[in-house]
Amino acid sequence: MDFRLKNGRPITIREFEPADLDGMVQMFQAMSKEALQFGLPPYDRPRLERWVTGLGGGVLLVAIDKATVVGVAMVFGRPHPRFKGIGEFVIYLHQEYHNQGLGSFLTRVIIQEVRRKGFHRVGLEVVADNSAAVRVYEKAGFVIEGRLRHAFYGEDGTYRDQLVMGCVL
Ligand SMILES: CC(C)(COP(=O)(O)OP(=O)(O)OC[C@H]1O[C@@H](n2cnc3c(N)ncnc32)[C@H](O)[C@@H]1OP(=O)(O)O)[C@@H](O)C(=O)NCCC(=O)NCCS
Repeated sequence: MDFRLKNGRPITIREFEPADLDGMVQMFQAMSKEALQFGLPPYDRPRLERWVTGLGGGVLLVAIDKATVVGVAMVFGRPHPRFKGIGEFVIYLHQEYHNQGLGSFLTRVIIQEVRRKGFHRVGLEVVADNSAAVRVYEKAGFVIEGRLRHAFYGEDGTYRDQLVMGCVL
């Protein structure tokens, strides 16, 4: 699937293939501290390998600029029968690709994709100060379901609230 950034650059979006793992590792290595400030490191190869092998029936999309991975979006399924159809959403874009509409597009596309696969709900947790992420999620149909006070300890040594968000499909 093709997407054009606001600056006109063409991006390809498709399902992850095993050969993309190196590109994913490189993308995270090239991400700035700021872009990862609300994340949960490490983002090294073993962690990313666990992601790609542990999707649990979910979906992993990659965004590619020429041959370079510049974004990933995933919905993890959970194997327990009591969590049937309930996924968890995660998205990361390289900082040079922020604020170009790509996150909004990827989020919408992955929601459509998991709906098609029979998912019933997608949930997530996000640091409340991550305003761009919260905006992207709300635009894609997520609603704020709760606030976990001081549930994230930032690298700057301050506690931040986390928002619980969900989208019932
Ligand atoms: C969060 C993220 C996926 C968003 O993707 P993106 O492509 O930059 O987002 P988009 O360009 O599609 O949309 C950003 C929206 O947030 C708004 N926004 C950007 N910065 C903002 C800020 N500081 N305050 C409020 N809104 C802001 C933009 O105006 C835009 O809204 P609009 O479409 O109504 O104008 C991306 O920034 C990212 O990967 N960040 C680093 C990793 C991360 O934090 N992941 C999520 C939590 S783990």
